[in-house]
Amino acid sequence: MATAVTSSYLHAFDTFVIDNPAYEKTGVIDDMRADDFARLDGQGHTYLDYTGGGLYAVSLVERHINLLKDNIFGNPHSQNPASLASTELVEKARADVLRFFNADPAEYLVIFTANASGALKLLGESYPFGVDSHFLIVADNHNSVHGIREFARRRGSCITYVPLDPISLRTYDIEPYFDRCREAGTKLFAFPAQSNFSGVQHPLAWIELARSHGFDVLLDAAAFVPTNQLDLGQIKPDFVPVSFYKMFGYPTGVGALIARKDALSKLERPWFAGGTVQIVSTKADLHIMADENEAFEEGTVNYLNLPTISHGLAYLQQVGMETIHDRVTMLTGYLLAELDKLRHSNGKPLAALYGPKDTTLRGGTLAFNLLDPSGVFFPYRQVEADANTANISIRAGCFCNPGAGEYSLTHVAEDVRRCVEQSTHGDAFDLDAYRDCMGDTATGAVRVSLGLVSSFQDVAGLLDFLLTFVDQEADERYAMLGC
Ligand SMILES: Cc1ncc(COP(=O)(O)O)c(C=O)c1O
Repeated sequence: MATAVTSSYLHAFDTFVIDNPAYEKTGVIDDMRADDFARLDGQGHTYLDYTGGGLYAVSLVERHINLLKDNIFGNPHSQNPASLASTELVEKARADVLRFFNADPAEYLVIFTANASGALKLLGESYPFGVDSHFLIVADNHNSVHGIREFARRRGSCITYVPLDPISLRTYDIEPYFDRCREAGTKLFAFPAQSNFSGVQHPLAWIELARSHGFDVLLDAAAFVPTNQLDLGQIKPDFVPVSFYKMFGYPTGVGALIARKDALSKLERPWFAGGTVQIVSTKADLHIMADENEAFEEGTVNYLNLPTISHGLAYLQQVGMETIHDRVTMLTGYLLAELDKLRHSNGKPLAALYGPKDTTLRGGTLAFNLLDPSGVFFPYRQVEADANTANISIRAGCFCNPGAGEYSLTHVAEDVRRCVEQSTHGDAFDLDAYRDCMGDTATGAVRVSLGLVSSFQDVAGLLDFLLTFVDQEADERYAMLGC
């Protein structure tokens, strides 16, 4: 049965609340939204790109402006009062990060970076990869994690990918991969706590398993921590990159590598910079690195913005991570169920969802393509453009996660190589030619993601928008639009 195109999901709110009685307990989020995020409803904006970037509360921005107005902050690397004022707040932010993630300061420390990618690069360039090393990486990772393989490759290390099941986008039997390379040197295993493509939450039990096989563990938590509590008192990964704008939206330009001290001591800095050394001599041509986080924080830290981390974490704690998590889970469950029900009159599904179809071990990030009644893909970039017209922010493409994209869209390595070759002329790569060459196989998807102040209205607005595709032929819809 086709869903009536005229129906508005907004009317389904009462039924949703009956099915999800705990939703009303998350009402504090509606209050915050009406106040600190009033611009959303004021502008009729449906924001569904939280995995791309979190939204900031106006009060966070105001608190920061007042802090700057009322104080004199100088470069922290000194002992003058302006310098000490900065140092105090930077160190407070560092302690607050450890406290938020329940990390024991005797065991973990925080290195401030520009973002999660900066944290990953620090790790990649410093990890003691050698010809006897093994870099084991789950295919479902962000490009900034994949990029570490190039550091490993340069040192001649063995690099192994853990594949995904193309339907669930999970990996069921990880054990055999730990022994794929016989090398006896350093070993690094990398996986995301939550996929930024499919929302899959990979088992955190892999951390201890990998460690029992002699691996250091890189847990990419960038897409997980905005809506889930990461408890480093319970699980003990060696390296955890995060970007704070994904958690509370403001400011951009601050991230961290949270690292176990014993794992950090294995890293070798490939260079030194201002702030990272205890002594440098030009005449004796020597240098001695600073200790712990100081050896990794290159140049002047972002001392005017770092204090906002304390404000942002306090904000999340005030709402409660459990409240945020519960609301996102309920909305995700509803969206998954309704997406599955969306059908054309001929009974064919409207949406091809990639990854898990229920909320078990998954977060609020959904990737899918829309299909017409004959099963032809609506071009995902065009779907995004239509959403823009409806004032809905979603994302289209591969989301910097080529592995999850390739498994879900069933790309074959030979086709990828052939099409890249055909689309490359000298140094120039023609992305459109590549997409044409890959033909019927979609080269991307649309992604919607829920977060801090997501509401039922956002999900209803998206579903209403998707209804406009029901019973439309892909070529007719875009012919109509003059595409
Ligand atoms: C899982 C994951 N890891 C790493 C990153 C990189 O974060 P940034 O762009 O802030 O460096 C992202 C960004 O979307 C992500 O989702």
